Amino acid sequence: MNINSVLETIQNIKSDIQTVSSHEELEQFRLKYLVRKGIVQQMFERLKTAAPEDRPVLGKALNELSRTAQQLFDEKKRELEQSRHASKDTLDLTIPGRRRPVGTKHPVTQALDDMTNIFKSMGFAVALGPEIEDDFHNFEALNFPPDHPARDMQDTFFLDKTALLRTHTSPVQIRVMMNQPPPIRHVMPGRVYRNEAISARSYCMFHQLEGLAVDEHITFAELKGTLATFAKRFFGSSVKYVFRPSFFPFTEPSAEMDISCFLCKGKGCRVCKQTGWLEILGCGMVDPNVFKAVGYDPEKVTGYAFGMGIDRTALLLYGIDDIRMLYENDVRLLNQFT
Ligand code: DAH
Repeated sequence: MNINSVLETIQNIKSDIQTVSSHEELEQFRLKYLVRKGIVQQMFERLKTAAPEDRPVLGKALNELSRTAQQLFDEKKRELEQSRHASKDTLDLTIPGRRRPVGTKHPVTQALDDMTNIFKSMGFAVALGPEIEDDFHNFEALNFPPDHPARDMQDTFFLDKTALLRTHTSPVQIRVMMNQPPPIRHVMPGRVYRNEAISARSYCMFHQLEGLAVDEHITFAELKGTLATFAKRFFGSSVKYVFRPSFFPFTEPSAEMDISCFLCKGKGCRVCKQTGWLEILGCGMVDPNVFKAVGYDPEKVTGYAFGMGIDRTALLLYGIDDIRMLYENDVRLLNQFT
């Protein structure tokens, strides 16, 4: 070995690394030069047999060779890595995006939100209550005495002696009033449960929107005005309405509100059973006994309350003819509400 062969090898290394363009080729380079049995080590081995006077110069040149080989290898490796990342990160902006299905609100939630927003715009706050209730809130405080026949109106799911699934949202009235003094102006949306035979027209769970206003000098005229405004905003300004006398234990006097059928515009059709009218809610002036149950003074305050079912109205609005479809969560139905 002489100095020329070392310099020649350095040249070879430099030209070899130029031809490397992949990780595989770089590995070939490494195997050729840098491993224990590679060219670099072999040359160091041969140094032992070189003439002693040549060794310092040769040794220095070999160190240079070794450093060059390692350095060129490292640089190439970094370069290859960077170009791999670069190609991975390159975005092809011309590829069309993937369409993701967009979720939507359930039609019942949509109707409930729309109704709630109308009342919010008239100054009502929103309150929620538990779906598992007790006898006091669901019945007793609402003026259903223990043996009152009105309790038969409700087909109640009892969970045990005291706990039950609320049969209406009216117990939230009790909770709101027991929580704060008057004035009250709240709407209370939520799920309610009744042990009814399941059919196209009725289900064991549905939704109600309850309303309550309590203050000094609240009148039945305000109740009518508020509900008429609601009906016009929700069903359209041409809607007609009528209040019929009715009975609820927790209101006196009580009424039910009918609106002109929004499908046939009052002419009479299958949906309104040829009457031209649809019943949408119960309402009335809060019974003094309810005020007593929550600790309000019935001599000082008056109030009105109302409660409406959401699901049947949603069915009519969207032209769905079986209430069970609302709860099956079949995307073929839900997709139509995007
Ligand atoms: N809670 C009644 C029901 O489930 C609906 C109702 C009627 C609520 C009159 C009221 C009301 O607040 O005043 O059938």
